[in-house]
Amino acid sequence: MTRIYDVIKKKRDGGTLSEGEIRRIVADYTNDIIPDYQMSALLMAICICGMSSEETYYLTDAMVRSGDIIDLSCFGTRSADKHSTGGVGDKTTMIVAPLAAELGCRVAKMSGRGLGHTGGTIDKLESIPGYRTMMTSAQFLDQVTEIGVCVMGANASIAPADKKIYALRDVTGTVESIPLIASSIMSKKIAAGSDTIVLDVTVGSGAFMKDLPSARLLARTMVDIGKAFGKRVSAVLTDMDQPLGRQIGNASEMQEAIDFLRGRDDGLSDLRQVSLTLAAQMAANVHRISADEAFARAEHAWRSGAAYERFLTWMHAQGGDISVFTDPNKQLHAPHTRDIIADEDGYLQKVDAEKIGGAAMLLGAGRQTKDDAIDLLAGICMHKKVGMSVKRGDVLATMQTSDPTRFAA
Ligand code: URA
Repeated sequence: MTRIYDVIKKKRDGGTLSEGEIRRIVADYTNDIIPDYQMSALLMAICICGMSSEETYYLTDAMVRSGDIIDLSCFGTRSADKHSTGGVGDKTTMIVAPLAAELGCRVAKMSGRGLGHTGGTIDKLESIPGYRTMMTSAQFLDQVTEIGVCVMGANASIAPADKKIYALRDVTGTVESIPLIASSIMSKKIAAGSDTIVLDVTVGSGAFMKDLPSARLLARTMVDIGKAFGKRVSAVLTDMDQPLGRQIGNASEMQEAIDFLRGRDDGLSDLRQVSLTLAAQMAANVHRISADEAFARAEHAWRSGAAYERFLTWMHAQGGDISVFTDPNKQLHAPHTRDIIADEDGYLQKVDAEKIGGAAMLLGAGRQTKDDAIDLLAGICMHKKVGMSVKRGDVLATMQTSDPTRFAA
């Protein structure tokens, strides 16, 4: 049997790992047989030398099999999931999940928390008083059967190998590798069981993929993996050169998503375009209809208020009290705000989405380490989007926090 030492050298020298070697390494690392230092060396060799599509498939499959695979066969080909490769101000799940359910998809979704400059859907949902993010598998499936949608916290038994490998990549400079990112994301999506998977591959300053060719390659790699597992999978490339919509922060993003579902669309064409496109793509895959027809259906479900009605049913089923977002007398606001003022006339040409996400985190909206508590009211509101004209004295953005000592950072 090949030793891990030889496998590291093989990859370092540009070789191709066999199916057996990959399965063995994933199993042995998950079971604490391979130490972190050897796995780190192998991950770095993969970062530098890459992986073939067969190696990437075997790695994904080994990580899928390291834990449970959710059985959604009771929904036939109607189960549909979406996944974003990460962004700033991304509140699309709150919109897409009820919209896709309204279009006849069965949305059984597991989401995660934010770390670093990108937010997490579960943190955003926890800004809704009473919303239950932890459920049993039976409750999860029952809810999807009854109302077509459930979003809960990711189960620890889904792809545990990825959890362990990702934590190591995070501290060893080995996140930025297309085969490693693709296998990591797809292992969780495949284990989560949906037949349709729609991938929102973000590109730009706030995304993992900073340029279009790399985003295309990541999208292609993930789509190919999904198809090899027999899934109906497609990818949409979306702009993350500026935050999506206007709000960055947990409660404020929830507010923006609810306002959008209630028909408010104050020129937020990026949020509308991305949300409707993702929901439409899910429906297109499930019903085997054209993307254009699915988009028209999605737009109708949004404009008619049917998607919002579905959202209310979903909130009711999961215990969420959204009156803090819909009743002006109950609305919550961060106690401390500070405006960023334009010091000259012109146009907003560029925004560094990663830095804005980092600033929102420093205000309390995100975690620097996984055990940090978050301030649900903290965040940033972008009053100006790229391309807008600006007059000296205009407010470009407003910072919000419960702890004013955070402004300095
Ligand atoms: N998200 C993941 O789940 N895995 C990666 O490797 C990168 C982003």
